[in-house]
Amino acid sequence: MLRSVDLATALGPKQPMATNGRQHLCSAPKRSFLDERLDLLTARYGDAVAAGTYCYQRVIEHQDGAWVTVGGRRLLMLASYGYLGLLGHPKIAAASQEAAATLGTGSHGVPLLAGTTTLHVELERAIADFVGTDAAVVFGSGYVANVATIAALATTDQVVICDRLDHASILDGCRLSGAKLMVYQHNDLAALERCLAQTEGRDALVVVDAVFSMDGDVAPMPEVVALCQRYGAALMVDEAHSLGVLGATGRGIAEHFDLDAGTIDIRTGTLSKSVPSAGGYVAGSHALVDALKHNARAFIFSAAVPPPQAAAASAAFAVVRDEPERVERLRRNGERYRTALRRLGFDLLASATPIVPLICPSEEAAFAMTHRCAADGVFVVPVVHPAVPRTSPRLRTMVTAAHGDDEIDLAVDVLARAGRRCGLIV
Ligand SMILES: Cc1ncc(COP(=O)(O)O)c(C=O)c1O
Repeated sequence: MLRSVDLATALGPKQPMATNGRQHLCSAPKRSFLDERLDLLTARYGDAVAAGTYCYQRVIEHQDGAWVTVGGRRLLMLASYGYLGLLGHPKIAAASQEAAATLGTGSHGVPLLAGTTTLHVELERAIADFVGTDAAVVFGSGYVANVATIAALATTDQVVICDRLDHASILDGCRLSGAKLMVYQHNDLAALERCLAQTEGRDALVVVDAVFSMDGDVAPMPEVVALCQRYGAALMVDEAHSLGVLGATGRGIAEHFDLDAGTIDIRTGTLSKSVPSAGGYVAGSHALVDALKHNARAFIFSAAVPPPQAAAASAAFAVVRDEPERVERLRRNGERYRTALRRLGFDLLASATPIVPLICPSEEAAFAMTHRCAADGVFVVPVVHPAVPRTSPRLRTMVTAAHGDDEIDLAVDVLARAGRRCGLIV
């Protein structure tokens, strides 16, 4: 426990101290609840630092296509959410710079009171047009969009039904709403139906990720939609990892499965993955968006994303629309990468997207893989409990449209070498 050691050293032994001619025993200040709590919360981090296995929050000094510079070394990036390779795109960068010049680097505050801007209105339109809904509203992040939406819409006498692997923001929103939470086994339609049948007359909101961020598999959306319709439940889908990824033109899960417009009541997503900016959105009917703009606490009590971010996001939607070959390139890259890794014997779960987990025999193996890959010039990241079950620690890798065939083959070679040494494959 690094903190307790530091504290004891800093305080030194108890010493008598002369004050006003009297001797007092100067005792160490009583440790507060906070000291204990911080010890507990940082214990694992401290242990990893001491063991030399800590490999998170690496500091990127430069970014160039599929490559990043860390500690002066160029590494091939296999841990980026920038699925379409749009970071640094000249049109997006130019739009952001122009916005900073005309509207400044910050918003005036809460849009409801301090006003919105033409750039924010244009972004809401761009999102709605791209995903095929009537309207959209932008929040400070995708996390906030999920929390705010569920907390605003669900009430204590309703039920929110979630897939076990849904994003943390969905579960947090549910807790904040006070609604009863029901969780079903991952992608298990029979389990979802059992939940829908057990709501005891209460209204239900089903919330699912379109693409699951840790496993890289896709929700069986046509069946989920059919179940929601049969039981009269509303459906909210998080498109954080499907926007720009699924569907021939990157429109997301509805395009992927050719679902009719309106079959998904609420679509949420982020502006920080395929779209290289910051913020989150909720898209749906005019009534939904108006309701959120006047009831979602994160919209009423929090400032808008800055104009340069709004402009960058709008420009990114235009680029995705005008350069659909990026979506196709991403799909082909994912296929090439997964096929090569499966042929080598890696366990990739049911990944069918650019998110490709490599299951490791132990947490130690996941950390060892990360260090070996970094030594060979590849940036990957381990994901362990509690982010994923204790039984399936993994390297979570991602390919993007920025990778060329040679770079994918290089990554596979490095992973194969490390995988043999660390016991992932024979
Ligand atoms: C499925 C999912 N939803 C929401 C979010 C939150 O998005 P943001 O980073 O914009 O807060 C993430 C972030 O990784 C995510 O994976």
